[in-house]
Parts: sequence; structure tokens; C-alpha cells
Amino acid sequence: MQNVNSDDYLAALGFVQWVNRDRSSTSLDEAPEKRTGSTADFLQQLAARVESCRKCSLYSGRRNSVCGEGHPEADWLFIGEAPGAEEDRLGVPFVGRAGQLLNSMIIALDLTRTDTYITNVLKCRPPENRNPKDDEVQECELYLHQQIEFIRPRIIVALGKFAAQTLLKSSKPIGKLRGDVHSYSQFNIPLIATYHPAYLLRSPIEKRKVWQDLVLAKSSLT
Ligand code: URA
Repeated sequence: MQNVNSDDYLAALGFVQWVNRDRSSTSLDEAPEKRTGSTADFLQQLAARVESCRKCSLYSGRRNSVCGEGHPEADWLFIGEAPGAEEDRLGVPFVGRAGQLLNSMIIALDLTRTDTYITNVLKCRPPENRNPKDDEVQECELYLHQQIEFIRPRIIVALGKFAAQTLLKSSKPIGKLRGDVHSYSQFNIPLIATYHPAYLLRSPIEKRKVWQDLVLAKSSLT
């Protein structure tokens, strides 16, 4: 008997062939070496995916997901903890008081916010700004990893304990993680850990240490 594949049968019967839209319209799932789209395209696709994400319970309380903002090929990647109330309202990271301080830090580096990329470990706001839970971090981690993979920054600045511990797979306190040049995963991107701008608002005396960390970051640009 002649060998006929089922697609031929369906075509002969007049059925339109089913196409996996996801795979034909996006290369987000392709191995990095097979991707053909621009970084901006990938980041846009990722943001759409995050917008419909229901992998943890935080989706139910969000007004907006907050995937990230900035230059798709930024040299500097700043990573915070999770969106707060203002970020949830606007869908943009670091737009509240802590964000204003982050903007000043960026300007002090002779950069503008639009030169950099800014994101968080969690893409949805935890209720009452509570600390992220382990399962929330685990579910969200792939998005952050993909952002880093697409952007391939020359330096990562982890803002605060959660970002630093998540990225470095460490349980050491932020005071112990800052001051060294770490390396992020198999990409070997230099990573500096520093205090979170929200902490600086409460403890401005620590600003001097953050400046030292930023100077170290600048000197570590690969
Ligand atoms: N704090 C964060 O960690 N991220 C934000 O986007 C805002 C405040």
C-alpha cells in the first residue's frame, strides 16, 4: 500500500491544515542560535507572554504586569525586586520614589535612563509590597533569564537582597554580596550587588557605599 501521510489525507479532504501559531509567529522558544528577530521583537514577545502569565497567584491582584523598560541593547541592566503600587498602576518599573533615586544614580553614571534597561525579579506586584515568595521567584525566573539572554548587557546591577540572592543563587546577606565583582551564569556577565534604592531612602547614610558599588560596576564593564 502506498505510504500516505495524514496531512495529505486532510488536504485531499479539503481540511485546512492546523498550524501551531505560536511556533510559526514567534521565535521566542527557538534556541538562541536559531533566532532571527531583533532583541526589541523578543522583548516585546516576552512582555506579551508576561501579560498573560498565570503561573503564580500574583496575576489575580495585578493591574498591570511590569516586564521591563529600556534600551533593548543596553550595556547596563538594573534589576530590582518587584513592582510596587505605582509600577503596578503604570506597568513601568521604578517609577515611584525609589525609581527617582535610581534615576539619579543612573545620571551620576553619566547615563540616561533610556540608555539602560530596568526590570525586576518579579513581574507582578506582591500584595501590600510583601517580600517575594520562593515559588513566585521560581516561576518568574525564566522571564528574567530570557531578558538577560536577549539583552546581553555588559554589566548587571542587582538592586537589593532579592535580586542579588536570586541572580547569584546565594543566601548571603546583601552586605556580604556587595563589594565583589560576581559573574552571571554561563554568560559570564559581570554582576555587582548593591543596596536597593528603597533602602537608601530609609538609610541615606549608605549612599556612599552604593556610589562605590557603581564605580566598581563601571570599571567592570566588559
Ligand atoms: N522597587 C522595586 O524593586 N522595583 C520597582 O520597580 C519599584 C520599586
